[in-house]
Amino acid sequence: MTIRPAKPSDVPTISRIESESYSNPWHPDTFASLLSREGVTLLVAEEGAAVLGYAVLWWVLDQGELANLAVQKDARGRGIGSQLLDHVISHAEAVGVESLFLEVRWSNEKASRLYARRGFHQISVREGYYQNPREDARILVKYLPTTPTPEPSEYAGETRLKSTNPTVRKP
Ligand SMILES: CC(C)(COP(=O)(O)OP(=O)(O)OC[C@H]1O[C@@H](n2cnc3c(N)ncnc32)[C@H](O)[C@@H]1OP(=O)(O)O)[C@@H](O)C(=O)NCCC(=O)NCCS
Repeated sequence: MTIRPAKPSDVPTISRIESESYSNPWHPDTFASLLSREGVTLLVAEEGAAVLGYAVLWWVLDQGELANLAVQKDARGRGIGSQLLDHVISHAEAVGVESLFLEVRWSNEKASRLYARRGFHQISVREGYYQNPREDARILVKYLPTTPTPEPSEYAGETRLKSTNPTVRKP
C-alpha cells in the first residue's frame, strides 16, 4: 500500500468512492479544484495501480481540518483508513498544524473508533449538521505535539452548538 498525493487522473476513482461512501457526495470538480489549492493536501491510498481510498486535509496557520476520509467499500477493514489518517496527522504536523479538527456523524461508530484510537477527543456537538438523514455531528480535535495538551477538565465540559448552515460537512 502506497500513500501519495493525488493527481488529476485520480479524480474519477476518488469520485466513485465518494459516491458509494456518502449520501451527499462532493462533486468531482471539488476534488479537482483541491489539487491546486494552497493549504490543502489530497492523499490517495494505492495498491498496485488501484486507488482504494483518499483523505483531504486543509489548514490555515496552526489550525487544520480532516475534511474528508473514505475507503472503497470492499477494501474497508484492512487498515487503509488508519494508514491514510496516520499520513494526514504526520503531514499536519509537518506544516505546523497544532490543532487538527474533524466532524463525524453521530452514528458513525466505525469512524469514531478510528479517530479515538488516534487520540481525537470530542469537544462539542453541532446539532443538525448533516442532511440525508439529518443528524448531529461530533466535533473532534487532536492536539499535535507542538501544542501542550490541555488538562482533561478543559474539554470535558461539552458544549452544544446550533447548526449554522455549514459549508463543510465531512467527514
Ligand atoms: C471510516 C473508514 C474511512 C475506515 O476505513 P477502513 O479502511 O475500513 O479503516 P481501518 O481498516 O483502518 O479500520 C477500521 C477497522 O478495521 C480494523 N482493521 C484495521 N486493520 C485491519 C487489518 N489488517 N485486518 C483486519 N481488520 C483491520 C480496525 O481495527 C478497525 O476496526 P474497528 O473500527 O471495527 O474496531 C471507512 O469505513 C469508510 O470509508 N467509511 C465511509 C466513509 C466515512 O464514514 N468516512 C469517515 C467520515 S467521518
